Amino acid sequence: MKPFPFPLFLRCPRCGSPFTAVLGALRCDRGHAFDIAREGYVHLALRSRLVANADTAPMVEARLKFLSAGHFDPLTRALAQHAAEILRDQDPARCVLDAGAGPGHYLAQVLDRVPDRLGLALDLSKFAARRAARAHPRIGAVVADLTQPLPVMDGVAGLGLSVFAPRPAQELWRVLGPGGALVAVTPGPRHLGELIDRIGLLTVDTRKESRLRERMKDLFELRAVDTIEHPIEVSRTEASALIGMGPNAFHLGPEEVERRLQALPDRMELLASFRLHVFMRVAR
Ligand SMILES: C[S@@+](CC[C@H](N)C(=O)[O-])C[C@H]1O[C@@H](n2cnc3c(N)ncnc32)[C@H](O)[C@@H]1O
Ligand SMILES: [Zn+2]
Repeated sequence: MKPFPFPLFLRCPRCGSPFTAVLGALRCDRGHAFDIAREGYVHLALRSRLVANADTAPMVEARLKFLSAGHFDPLTRALAQHAAEILRDQDPARCVLDAGAGPGHYLAQVLDRVPDRLGLALDLSKFAARRAARAHPRIGAVVADLTQPLPVMDGVAGLGLSVFAPRPAQELWRVLGPGGALVAVTPGPRHLGELIDRIGLLTVDTRKESRLRERMKDLFELRAVDTIEHPIEVSRTEASALIGMGPNAFHLGPEEVERRLQALPDRMELLASFRLHVFMRVAR
């Protein structure tokens, strides 16, 4: 069994007390215990009413397969570059926290760039946590619900990542320490537009970015916005993975997805378009 790497960053979701690692579990000062799964992640989400939003096993696998092919590497490089700059003068004991980490692809690449840091991958999907636990030796993966108080101690993170995931501004502010920053990525307005048009998928919500700024504005100062845009060439199989890893998989049945995919050419060129926002935590 892979031991859970760093319980000190975490707190009990029932009572907020710190954890100690005991054999195969994390136990808080008041005796609440949470098993560490064989695969090395720990489940700290108390209520599962939102499991409907969590990525399923096929979605996680589709995401990992697509990301591993390197199509979004320019985004990965930009994240790693910002991470190195943000963390340069910070206490190395503070971790990198990825909120809604999925299979841990981006967090793992960021950790490669900042070799003295540990990473926490939070996600509501146990399938994602299972993958993230294996994505890098310095990742600790936790099943946690971003709509609830986070099972993370105050101020332990120097950098937060939020890539296409829910953003609880108040809780991110709490777990980031003074001088901490959040790097948040939203899809650009034309992200994968050709695929969306050809298959009739859900379109990107154009108000995402303004909503993000509105949500963060009292707790964080927007320091920089980068646009990362480049063409990618994908096979029909990869287009299928792109569809499988997104919300369309929820709203179209697998047969309908398959039918629409058959109408695509063997290879097609798409535009990948991201907006990367650097938010600095402000003192209150
Ligand atoms: C679009 S995926 C992005 C994953 C990853 N950041 C990436 O880009 O590869 C969104 C992720 O948010 C997770 N998620 C959705 N609702 C959540 C919640 N309430 N709490 C924690 N994670 C959640 C899903 O399970 C999924 O892994
Ligand atoms: Zn407790």
